[in-house]
Amino acid sequence: MFRNGGGEEVGADLVKALEVQESALGTVGMDRVKQVLAKFPATVREQVAPLMKRMATAKVSRLEKLKKLEGTLTAQGNSFKGRELFFGAKTGCSSCHTIGLEGGHVGPDLTSIGAIRSSHDLLEAIVLPSESFVPGHEVSGGNG
Ligand code: HEC
Repeated sequence: MFRNGGGEEVGADLVKALEVQESALGTVGMDRVKQVLAKFPATVREQVAPLMKRMATAKVSRLEKLKKLEGTLTAQGNSFKGRELFFGAKTGCSSCHTIGLEGGHVGPDLTSIGAIRSSHDLLEAIVLPSESFVPGHEVSGGNG
């Protein structure tokens, strides 16, 4: 609904929506938010500026986290623990992803993901979900 821009009234709704969704914004991607905002009056963009700043900070800390975790990629994995995590309630991966016959179908089937993706790509998909979209499973949607 906000994709085509609008006046200050629609803009105010957009600002509200963005603020409510702030914790989820990392998965939408700042570039996408910027694209949408470009079609709104400057007053609307000013209102969103502090929020954009927080998003930028959050992105930097996610990138730092990714760098740190990359150091663990060479470590030996533990498929038993991994399975426990994947199907456990705390991470909830299996509510969206299937491995073998078990799991949900919101995200892509991960049964043979290890064969088609590098460990770096896998890490990035988990830590920075918005940076690597799998065709057909985009969360934020595109223009068509
Ligand atoms: C709310 C649903 C949801 C949950 C929970 C979830 N994912 Fe995802 N995942 C997705 C969607 C949708 C995609 C595809 C879009 C994308 O790449 O961002 C995806 C993509 C991925 C990919 C990339 C797949 C590819 O083909 O490159 C991996 C790997 C992945 N998820 C692993 C995980 C792991 C591990 C967990 C648990 C820690 C998890 N996901 C939790 C929805 C989810």
